[in-house]
Amino acid sequence: MSENNAPRPSDANAITRQYLDSILIEERLIDAQTASLETEIFGTKFCTPIMMPAFSHLYRYQKERNAMMDYTLAAKELGMLNWVGMGENDVIGEILDTGIQTVRVIKPYADRDKIFDQIAFSEEHGAFALGLDIDHIFGNNGEYDVVFGELMTRQTVDDLRAYVNATKLPFVIKGVLSVTDALKSVECGARGILVSHHHGRMPFAIPPLMILPAICEAVRDVEGFEVFVDSGIASGADVFKSLALGAKAVGVGRAMMPALLTDGTEGVVSCVTGMNQELKTLMGYTGCASLSEIRPELLWKDGKPMAAK
Ligand SMILES: Cc1cc2nc3c(=O)[nH]c(=O)nc-3n(C[C@H](O)[C@H](O)[C@H](O)COP(=O)(O)O)c2cc1C
Repeated sequence: MSENNAPRPSDANAITRQYLDSILIEERLIDAQTASLETEIFGTKFCTPIMMPAFSHLYRYQKERNAMMDYTLAAKELGMLNWVGMGENDVIGEILDTGIQTVRVIKPYADRDKIFDQIAFSEEHGAFALGLDIDHIFGNNGEYDVVFGELMTRQTVDDLRAYVNATKLPFVIKGVLSVTDALKSVECGARGILVSHHHGRMPFAIPPLMILPAICEAVRDVEGFEVFVDSGIASGADVFKSLALGAKAVGVGRAMMPALLTDGTEGVVSCVTGMNQELKTLMGYTGCASLSEIRPELLWKDGKPMAAK
């Protein structure tokens, strides 16, 4: 924030919010009916396309409870896919050992043995899928980042292919924000990508929803390849727009943080239930009885349908 509290023009979070709010939704009421939010991710059914975020180190904000466990339990109650971020095996193991379907996102550590060790551990402890957040390779001084004392490093297609080949679990590349990286993710054998700017790590980053249609088009013919999105999703309407532009499922992070930190599992259940209800309402208003009917034709931007050529 600058002195007058206005966001900097380079702030990808503000740019993303503005883009999300510039997209409008077209009504289609005749013949419409109530909707189902059921979806299938990597062959498993979930009750909603909203997913938990890959969070970490939440003890910095909530010292009395294990907030990562709190949201994991909310994922179970709501039938959602859970995600977790950076953490040593003992911390993440506690979550995996609940048996709740969880994607573990591993950091792009310079210590590659650590990556392989976390892959093997997660598979043994029943992870649903694995990932690596490529958007945390660089710090903001142009060097490889040091995250909680751990050095990160560059990740080549060959490195990523080696991680993919080290596990039977689906592997997701998190932090893709270009067609180039999406195609490289396909090349390395990943089963999916999460289109994200990781809460605005890169200044002037393209809003995920702006580039999502091009990415989805580029990977459309890759069988079983899933495209997820996160970054600034804060309502059922934001989820609707994400699905309409091609996402299979949508991560919600900071928007549920106040509820998580104040009221734990109950707070998250209440927050996500509200978003589910808003999504279901919008599906009713737009004549979409199922998630697959949410199409780009329902969105408008700058006074015209987004799907118009
Ligand atoms: C406190 C916090 C911790 C995070 N830790 C991780 C992490 O360890 N690994 C990761 O891939 N992303 C991490 N993220 C990024 C989120 O997974 C997500 O990509 C980002 O916050 C954008 O989504 P949002 O706008 O819904 O919060 C973290 C975000 C926050 C706010």
